[in-house]
Amino acid sequence: MSTFWSIWISVIVLGTIFGCWWLLWATRKGQTSDAETERTTGHSFDGIEEYDNPLPKWWFYLFLGTVIFSLGYLALYPGLGNFQGLLGWTQHNQWDTEMQVADARYGELYAQFGQVPVKELATDDEALQMGQRLFANNCAVCHGSAARGAIGFPNLTDDAWLYGGEPEDILETLHNGRQANMPAKGTMPNMTSTQVDQVVNYVLSFSGRARDEEAAEAGKVVYAQGCVACHGPDAKGNQAIGAPNLTDDAWLYGSTYEWIEETVLYGRENMMPAQSGRLSEDQIHILAAYVYSLSN
Ligand code: HEC
Ligand code: HEC
Repeated sequence: MSTFWSIWISVIVLGTIFGCWWLLWATRKGQTSDAETERTTGHSFDGIEEYDNPLPKWWFYLFLGTVIFSLGYLALYPGLGNFQGLLGWTQHNQWDTEMQVADARYGELYAQFGQVPVKELATDDEALQMGQRLFANNCAVCHGSAARGAIGFPNLTDDAWLYGGEPEDILETLHNGRQANMPAKGTMPNMTSTQVDQVVNYVLSFSGRARDEEAAEAGKVVYAQGCVACHGPDAKGNQAIGAPNLTDDAWLYGSTYEWIEETVLYGRENMMPAQSGRLSEDQIHILAAYVYSLSN
């Protein structure tokens, strides 16, 4: 923060506090004893008069207390522009301390779980609970809290896998991340719009939903030229490059004609971020077991 803004903020904060303090004193009036509370403001409305009592003492001191508290707080914690406070507290070192405490508490357990093979760990309730918490904190933003995914984010609870659902596949996905790239019109950049319609119908025919049987039949040829390299001759996909199986009912994007047409016309790019470096080896191991357990 520049010096100007630092001073600006400090002046406003301190000005507000001293303003409140001044207002309290200025409107305090002689603190009268209970016997003298007969005085009124002089207003009378339909015979109803208004007493002109000072604040009760305890209330007055309570307000004064909040002023003193806020000054003490501002001396100890950051609040006045660039002044860090006498305690030197920051969000970062509070976070670091909490992480150290957590490491001391869970580190041993993590290390213990880290030794157990993924499949075996996936049957351990305590490990799964830990995995669920790690998932909620690190993965749910994209895959959803129930791991069911969303458009563009795979569902992790079904048995359709872009990259494989064996422990070593999941570990590889988590450690190094994944990057999927489907080029527009596949390997057939000069595809005509008729051919796009044909290949979309052909893809729909895998799930018995072709709009136009004739076009679907013609789409076979287009598929062989533009798609087979990645999605395979039987359209079951290729887990080495994350090309989805087009014959099942799991769809990363929508399953309608329009969605598939959009995929073919414009291609798709997608990324699962690598977790190595963000999470420890043991945490990744526990997460792999949790993910494995979701579909097994
Ligand atoms: C920023 C969003 C994001 C976050 C955070 C994220 N993922 Fe992913 N994940 C994706 C995307 C997108 C894909 C699909 C990548 C693709 O299509 O190639 C994916 C793919 C996967 C896959 C492969 C699924 C398959 O079918 O093969 C697994 C397993 C996975 N994520 C687990 C996790 C776990 C566990 C975490 C938490 C550590 C996590 N992801 C965090 C976006 C995310
Ligand atoms: C270079 C490899 C490659 C080629 C060629 C290719 N695809 Fe793909 N395709 C992919 C990848 C990788 C994905 C996954 C994209 C993602 O994860 O975002 C994908 C995704 C798709 C999807 C989305 C599936 C879903 O679950 O939502 C459809 C549909 C599709 N491709 C159809 C085709 C058709 C039709 C062709 C031929 C015109 C084709 N692809 C050619 C690699 C390819």
